[in-house]
Amino acid sequence: MDHNSLSGHALDHIAIAVQNLDEALAFYKTALGLPEIGIEVVAEQGVRVAKLDIGNTHIELLEPLSPETPVGKFLANKGPGLHHICVKVDDINSELAKLKSQGMRLIDETPKIGAGGAKIAFVHPKSTGGVLLELSQPQNS
Ligand code: CO
Repeated sequence: MDHNSLSGHALDHIAIAVQNLDEALAFYKTALGLPEIGIEVVAEQGVRVAKLDIGNTHIELLEPLSPETPVGKFLANKGPGLHHICVKVDDINSELAKLKSQGMRLIDETPKIGAGGAKIAFVHPKSTGGVLLELSQPQNS
């Protein structure tokens, strides 16, 4: 299926930080009725991730592997809730270069490996109007 919009981008997922993945899943699967796609440990990001299908995009529930991880610190500072949105891109390196040339503050100057083996990088909320933004280039693109 072709997700191309005018910009060639699409919403890949919305990520929510949770203290307890099993409790959060009970809400999203049972109360909301969203199908679970799978659970995966992403060591590089320090999280256990549950992916849920919601139409043409996903919700990801992020449970930190330890309090010292970025999501662990987020929970300690802000509590559970919306953590980031992720935009799918075709060429993450060129998108990062473009953002950097526009003076945007990048958390990751070079891509890291995220859930599903995608190349990912985060843009600082200070450059996006307060929303932590993830860019993702899927593994097979
Ligand atoms: Co994400």
